[in-house]
Amino acid sequence: MILNLRADEVGSLLFHGNCTTCHFENKTVSAPSVVDFKERYKAAFPEKKEFVKYMSEWVEHPKKETSIMLDAVQKHGLMPELGFDRETLQTIAEYIYETDFTKKHSGHKN
Ligand code: HEC
Repeated sequence: MILNLRADEVGSLLFHGNCTTCHFENKTVSAPSVVDFKERYKAAFPEKKEFVKYMSEWVEHPKKETSIMLDAVQKHGLMPELGFDRETLQTIAEYIYETDFTKKHSGHKN
């Protein structure tokens, strides 16, 4: 790491730089909201370890066969592969698991 940042700060930067272009935090537009997909993943994988593992693997290679949100795939089309390495995606998934997106930016238009 070039910068001296904590893991959660790195996760926040990576997440906001690379995911929120399509995934608004609280609003489903061209992709399900972060609140929405986090809720679905937490229901399927309550344990952080499993949550992070499944999400980072899925985002590395999005596939209809392994999607747990087929309704979203049907509605928006499959998420494109972004080309991030597994470690980066794990950091992002950990940040998503730890952050309460329902409380942040209250009053924000997202
Ligand atoms: C170019 C737009 C785009 C970007 C950028 C994007 N996504 Fe998505 N994502 C989508 C769309 C559309 C869906 C809904 C269809 C689907 O599930 O494949 C989706 C679905 C998902 C899902 C649900 C997977 C499932 O089981 O179907 C997760 C988790 C997810 N995205 C995480 C991320 C993360 C983390 C990032 C940032 C690293 C990210 N996305 C960046 C468009 C995007």
